[in-house]
Amino acid sequence: MSVRVVVGAQWGDEGKGKMIDLMSETADIAARYQGGANAGHTVVIAGKKYVLHLIPSGILQKNTVCVIGNGVVIDPVALIEEIKMLESMGIEIKGRLFISHLAHLIMPYHKMLDRAREKKAAADKIGTTGRGIGPAYIDKINRAGIRIVDLLDRDTFEQKLRKNIEEKNELLKKIYKAEQLAVEPIIREYLDFDKLINPYIKDVSLYLNQAIKAGKKVLLEGAQGTLLDIDFGTYPYVTSSTPTSGGACSGLGIGPTFVDEVYGVIKAYTTRVGMGPFPTEMGDDDLVNLRELGDEFGATTGRPRRCGWFDAVIANYAARINGISAFALTKLDILDTLNEIKVCVSYEYEGKRITEFPSEMRILENCQPIYETYPGWESSTSEIKKFHDLPDNAKKYIHRIEELTDTGVAIVSVGSGREQTILV
Ligand code: GDP
Ligand code: IMO
Ligand code: MG
Repeated sequence: MSVRVVVGAQWGDEGKGKMIDLMSETADIAARYQGGANAGHTVVIAGKKYVLHLIPSGILQKNTVCVIGNGVVIDPVALIEEIKMLESMGIEIKGRLFISHLAHLIMPYHKMLDRAREKKAAADKIGTTGRGIGPAYIDKINRAGIRIVDLLDRDTFEQKLRKNIEEKNELLKKIYKAEQLAVEPIIREYLDFDKLINPYIKDVSLYLNQAIKAGKKVLLEGAQGTLLDIDFGTYPYVTSSTPTSGGACSGLGIGPTFVDEVYGVIKAYTTRVGMGPFPTEMGDDDLVNLRELGDEFGATTGRPRRCGWFDAVIANYAARINGISAFALTKLDILDTLNEIKVCVSYEYEGKRITEFPSEMRILENCQPIYETYPGWESSTSEIKKFHDLPDNAKKYIHRIEELTDTGVAIVSVGSGREQTILV
């Protein structure tokens, strides 16, 4: 591995944090390329739990340098809080974290607008994390955003901020009937960030290109997941960035010729937070309660995650969109106690069988999953270290996933701890 992209292959929360931490042991650099503090990446080391939102999970390996790319939208409040949290837990940050000067800032009005829009949309809401992600990317694309580099020049910053606040106050007042913002407190608050963030600012693209040419091993960390991608996800129930592997290059300023492999992190079943279609979702009265078994509650918002069986149509689609070289299959242990396990192999829509993921939400919403049912292994896998020691039915389940997706499983995760990992 010299440059490896790690993407979520479902709707996020696949266990990317654990995988990035693990892979960072042999990586020189871990670089995050999109999203913002909407992400919640959990790493458990010796029973201690770390939840990262903006900083790559590689930060927990002491020899790995972490960078945040231009494709990320940075909430300085969340960033400073995260740096302090890590430092208080004994993690060294200075000299190990760099932030692109081109990354856009999340401002207080982005968070207000995110929440106001969701409130107004009522039943039609997206179910966002409320972290201001959508409005920040809107400003970026609309060429109205404020970037990290702007923090360093007081005049530019103030000028851009005043212009934005004027417009946002109109929106807040007239469309959302929400509270107005005063400019001065924001100027004061944000101008303090220049001193705090200055030591971390870097030309990330230049740094990465030089590092890759010098033979350094680099991990490119995606947040969210394929089905939350702005183009390829279940639009409009998606996030506002490009979590798929294509986003890694534009979100960091490196060329696609540098990327050697793409790992897709995928759960042994499926979860989703927020609204939108989910073909294999289980009902509350289902006999199997994956939410309880898998402790499926959001790492950022604490919201209960919607749960369902593994969906090979989705896995196949993720393999295609990302060019996945191998899967890292997580949370296999959560299925340990089940006597039957289902895998969705295709959908049925208006009497026809569909094997390719439909792009129209109208169709997806009305697809019925077609399942294959396998006997469970009904024994604990959480202490197993070698693939051949897994119960036969677990091996069959994994092989069936490989067959259905035409993609190998290179890593199997059987617990949240670093050591609960099987390299196949
Ligand atoms: P991410 O957003 O993709 O990094 O995933 P999250 O951290 O939001 O959610 C994954 C959850 O599953 C976290 O609580 C992890 O500690 C946990 N986890 C990851 N891999 C495994 C596994 O193989 N087994 C179990 N039981 N938990 C896991
Ligand atoms: P990680 O990186 C799961 C979901 C939200 C909502 C939609 C849009 O931990 O896997 P946003 O706040 O981004 O505008 O919300 O996307 N969402 C996630 N779901 N894991 C995440 O990140 C998510 N980040 C955003 O729940 O449905
Ligand atoms: Mg998460």
